[in-house]
Parts: sequence; C-alpha cells; structure tokens
Amino acid sequence: MLVLGIETSCDETAAAIVRDGKEILSNVIYSQVKTHTPYGGVVPELASREHLVKIRSIVDQAFRDAGVTLDDIDGIAATSGPGLIGSLLVGLTYAKALSFSKHKPLAAINHIEGHIYSVSFEHPQVEFPALALVVSGGHTNLFWVESESGDFGHLKYTLVGKTRDDAAGEAYDKVAKLLGLPYPGGPIIDRLAKTGNRSAFAFSMAKISDRSLDFSFSGIKTAVLRMVKENGTLKEDPLRLDLCASFQEAVVNMLWTTTMKAAQLLNAQSIMLSGGVAANSRLREVFTERTAASGLKFYYPKPILTTDNAAMIAAAGTAKLLRGETAGMDVNADPNMRLAVSDRDFLIKRWKR
Ligand code: KG4
Ligand code: ZN
Repeated sequence: MLVLGIETSCDETAAAIVRDGKEILSNVIYSQVKTHTPYGGVVPELASREHLVKIRSIVDQAFRDAGVTLDDIDGIAATSGPGLIGSLLVGLTYAKALSFSKHKPLAAINHIEGHIYSVSFEHPQVEFPALALVVSGGHTNLFWVESESGDFGHLKYTLVGKTRDDAAGEAYDKVAKLLGLPYPGGPIIDRLAKTGNRSAFAFSMAKISDRSLDFSFSGIKTAVLRMVKENGTLKEDPLRLDLCASFQEAVVNMLWTTTMKAAQLLNAQSIMLSGGVAANSRLREVFTERTAASGLKFYYPKPILTTDNAAMIAAAGTAKLLRGETAGMDVNADPNMRLAVSDRDFLIKRWKR
C-alpha cells in the first residue's frame, strides 16, 4: 500500500511517500526557518503564503524521489490539525484536490498522532500499553496509548498530562531569545549546553500536586529572565554555557519526573518520545539511562523524523486508511484539534484506589 503524506501545520512544507506504513520511499522537508528567523518566531501569514508557493514543487519532488506517480498510490494522508489555520488549509486543500481528481481515498491526520507514528518506522514492535511523550514547539503532551491490534495498526489515546503554560520547545525558544540567540533556540542551546556545567545554577521545580501528571516550564524560563536581568546575556562569558546546561537539565528533569511518575502509576510497558524536542541530546541520554535502570523499554525516532515531516503523517494515514476511516470532501482544518479519545478520569480513578 503506497500512501502520499502531506504536512503543512506550521513552518515546514513536507511531502513523503511511504510503503505499507513502514518503508520511506521519499521524505521531502522544506523548512521556512530563514523566513521566520528575523521575527524570532513563526509569523502565521508568512507561513501560509510560503506553503502556497512551495506545496506543488515539494509534492512533485516526493514523487520523483520515490520513483512513483500519482496513479501508483493507494491513498493520501494530510494533517488537518492542530496547527496554524492558514498553513493547515494549504496542505489539506491540496490533498483534497488530488484525492478528488484522482479518486484516491483521503485520511485527515492529527499532527500529534503523526508525531507518535514517527517512532513506528524503526520500532514497529513497541510494547503496549505505552506512554507517549510528545514534546515540540507547540505541544507538551503525555498520552497513555493502548493498542487494539497489538501494534501500530489501531491505537487508542488518553491524555494524562500536559503543560500548564509553555510547551517545552517554546521554553527553549524563549530562553534562546533572552540570551540573544536566533530562532529556533532548541538546537543551539542543546549544542552550547554540551560544554556547560549542569549544576551551576539551581532551578526550583514548579510546585505541581502529587496527583497531577502535568508539566510546567514558565518558572524555569522566568528564573533565566531574572538571571539575564542581573547579569546581562553573558555573551562572551563561560557562565552562558553553564546557564544553558542548567536550564536544559531543569527541563529534562521536569519531563523525566512526570513521565516516570505516570509510568509507575499506570504500569506502562514502554515509553515513546517524539516531537521536535525529542532531538535533544540530553533528553535522549537521560531517558535512555533512567528507563534502562527502571527496566522500561524506551523508543525514539532518528532526528530527521523528530522534526515536522510528512512520512509520519503517511504512516498514521496508512493505519487509518486500512481501518477504513476515510475523510470526505467536507473535511475541514481544525487549528485546535484534540487527540485524546477517552477521558483521563477513568485512569485517575484507577490509581486513586
Ligand atoms: O515538532 P517541531 O518541529 O514543530 C512543532 O510542531 O512545534 O518542533 C520544533 C521545536 C522548536 O521549539 C525547537 O526549538 C525544538 O523543537 N527543538 C529542540 C531541539 N531541536 C528542535 N529543542 C531542544 N533541543 C533540540 N535539539
Ligand atoms: Zn510537530
């Protein structure tokens, strides 16, 4: 089964061809980062306009790279939310037009579900039920993931934790801005932190009740703001590396502590990490070490699949199309689309007993 995936929810125009939800024949990603860097973040109007300019050539390139044509494919999957409305509409409308004109079934995909499927290419045999931590510039969500089919064929999601303020990637980007570093700040802070002292600065953890599985990053960000106010951006100062390393350690510990708490409460079999921040070297290292020490399986995708891409959308789409869950021509983009299908209350009852 050959599926074309299209992703335009934020600032990447992406198209991919995937065979049987497993084999990536092509994975084309055009990043608009240069367009948005001068503004220190994504400008929605510019993003949608650039998607419009690029979408056709990116999809054509995905076909060329894969060595197949539109006639060869069995279905189309496009992100329909969450994301920027103008950006989402470009990819989804393009997919609808292809679907209509060539009579190919269409699947509308939740971007967050796509991130979860990014793990499936290298790790098709994840043990369920699993916890999926999705960390990106727009989201920090912890899902309880059960499988009806025993594999990635049919997953069921319950949102058990989320950020109360900034997303993890957003915290990275804002701290980078405070330090006078360009957007996106995540990869730069990751690099600078490598030579810094992780315990040079102490960041107190946000006070979240024992029962909660939520995250909070604004306190850490505000602590950096205070330090910058007191000391400046520390441009030529080695303390800047220490500040990056200490900030990163606080973020990683916040993510680990809550994820581990959930794993124990719910008796998870494995942990899946995905989203842009999943590329973070310290986050991968800490989760790898500590899951091994706890006897938990841990899975994450390779870097090209952590960033927004269309291969993950095609993989989620393949599962959906195989289940017969196709979208009609009336399907619309939903900037606030939710993934969870069930309420976390039933889980909370279970661990209160
Ligand atoms: O998933 P993604 O490509 O787009 C969204 O859906 O948001 O994630 C982008 C985010 C940005 O905030 C970026 O700073 C962050 O991921 N990021 C990182 C790293 N690479 C990207 N954060 C920390 N460490 C990294 N190595
Ligand atoms: Zn994303």
